[in-house]
Formats: sequence, structure tokens, C-alpha cells
Amino acid sequence: MKIIIINGPNLNLLGKRENDIYGDETFHDFFERLQEKFPQVALSHFQSNVEGELINALQEVGFSYDGIILNAAAYTHTSVGIGDAVKAITTPVVEVHISNTFAREEYRHTSFIAPNTKGIILGFGLQSYELAVQSFLAKN
Ligand code: DQA
Repeated sequence: MKIIIINGPNLNLLGKRENDIYGDETFHDFFERLQEKFPQVALSHFQSNVEGELINALQEVGFSYDGIILNAAAYTHTSVGIGDAVKAITTPVVEVHISNTFAREEYRHTSFIAPNTKGIILGFGLQSYELAVQSFLAKN
């Protein structure tokens, strides 16, 4: 099973960014632990601060991978382009957020991505990503 985690802007700063909200662990360290937990999954990771690069990545993997875990970060709340890309591809997408965006500012309550996803997992810290991997492994 091939699953990719696509992370949007500022998520390269995990571990040093607003630690009270996003925790102390770097994504690199977390990703290593995640790969160890799911040896049966070919897990990869892509991060960009650039909207178009995220759309390119979605298009590249979106017709061949088994699952995409997408944290588009701030672009979640603004990007029609990323929402359209998620709609255009055939690989199922699970939207993930580290924080509970509904407990935060109102502008974070909107997602241009959510309507075209398989589901959303948010508010569980970095564990949100792990729950998303599990959702792809779960038999319906
Ligand atoms: C985030 C929530 C977004 O509102 C914010 O812009 C982020 C991170 C999260 O994972 O909690 O950068 O997507």
C-alpha cells in the first residue's frame, strides 16, 4: 500500500513553531516513528510552502497511490486550487490537522478541501496523521 503525507506551509517548522499548539517534535522525527509503526505501508512525505507545488504533488500521485493524507495548513482555509485538485484526482484523500481548527479563530472553521475528501481527522496532535494511516488500513 502506497500512502503519501502532503504537508503545506509552515509545517516544516514543527518542533519550533507555536509549540503550545503544535507540540515539540519535528515532523522528521515523528515520520521516522510512523514508518516504524507501519512497516507494511510504503509511506512517503512531501512538504511545500508553495501552493502550486502542493497542487503539482497531488496531481503526480493522485492517480496511482492508494491514499493521500493532506494537511494543507493555512491553504485549507483559502485555496480553491487545492480543493479543485483534490476533486480532480482519484486517490482518496484524508484531510488532517494537528490542532482542533474548530476551537480556534473563525477563519479556520472553513475548508476548501473537506467536501472532496474521504474524511477529516483533526485535533489529536501529530497522532492525527497516525489515525489517518489507520483509516486507510481499516476494512470497511
Ligand atoms: C493546521 C491548522 C491551520 O489552521 C494552520 O494554518 C496550520 C496548521 C493544523 O495542522 O492544525 O498551519 O493545519
